[in-house]
Amino acid sequence: MKYIDIFGKKVSAIGCGCMRIAGFDEKKTEEYICTALDLGINFFDHADIYGGGHCEELFGEFLKKNPGYREKMFLQSKCGIRKGWFDFSYEHIMESVDGILERLHTDHLDSLLLHRPDVLMEPEEVDKAFSQLKESGKVRHFGVSNMNRFQMEYLGNNIDEKLFADQLQMSIVHTPLIDAGLNVNMGNDPSIMRDAGTLEYLRDHERVLQVWSPLQIGYFEGTFLNSERYEKLNGTLDQMAEKYGVGKDAIAYAWLLRLPMKVQVVLGTANIEHIASAVKACDITLEKKDWYTLYLDAGNRLP
Ligand SMILES: NC(=O)c1ccc[n+]([C@@H]2O[C@H](COP(=O)([O-])OP(=O)(O)OC[C@H]3O[C@@H](n4cnc5c(N)ncnc54)[C@H](OP(=O)(O)O)[C@@H]3O)[C@@H](O)[C@H]2O)c1
Repeated sequence: MKYIDIFGKKVSAIGCGCMRIAGFDEKKTEEYICTALDLGINFFDHADIYGGGHCEELFGEFLKKNPGYREKMFLQSKCGIRKGWFDFSYEHIMESVDGILERLHTDHLDSLLLHRPDVLMEPEEVDKAFSQLKESGKVRHFGVSNMNRFQMEYLGNNIDEKLFADQLQMSIVHTPLIDAGLNVNMGNDPSIMRDAGTLEYLRDHERVLQVWSPLQIGYFEGTFLNSERYEKLNGTLDQMAEKYGVGKDAIAYAWLLRLPMKVQVVLGTANIEHIASAVKACDITLEKKDWYTLYLDAGNRLP
């Protein structure tokens, strides 16, 4: 496993996203968490909305029965998405965190992310909520999700707490964050700067890029692994899997980890064999040319 430094704590570069565990029973939840920990994963990502709160409840039941495991984990959750709207108000953040802590059976979160930008947010309210959550010990660190560089800067300039991470969607086949940087000053569609240079901002300011949906096509259209829509890419993934001696899923994760910044890949799989295969991505470093070949074989072009 590869670890990155987050405020002096060693946190795994591969994390378990717990969005898809809602259907688990107690035994499967235990197997999922213990397998991940045995493989060196100590980063677990939740959100108050996953399974309507049930994913956190299941995880919390495990922690209630096994309290000794809590200190082995970097536990993260998110709030701010309500049914049909986004809400970064002081009241909503404070209420959400209390609910999260209760469901997870823990007295603190290592990290809280604001889930999706609330354009109506008042940064002063976020500041008040974050300060009180920090002071009370309920949340140790704060970050955002799905924000562009300007939004992160704007919020960051108006609150005392440092925003250490931005959780964003990215996979070999979902690359809007990358495309514009490769097509500067061109008249084509990929040259459109949709995110204001967010990757460069994160690297420049030593923030963590957390990647969600590392295997999905678009917005939850299924994985590109073995998809007929990505025949060429899958052929290349197979070749590289052989070359590097890992599974093709690990190549897909290694492609993300190859970005020159602090990256954490948030896995969506809840299958323990897939998790074991995924962590092998940390044992390899893709050659630069291979990284570009995968980008091209996903259907992209270079100028
Ligand atoms: N911040 C946000 O807005 C946001 C949004 C969405 C998600 N997230 C976070 O990101 C995490 C990952 O998202 P995701 O679930 O969409 O991720 P993903 O890794 O792109 O997709 C996971 C899905 O792919 C399937 N899959 C098929 N073949 C696989 C293989 N060989 N290896 C691994 N998985 C395979 C998995 O099934 P199996 O379980 O059978 O392997 C699972 O259903 C979530 O759990 C959540 O924590 C954040």
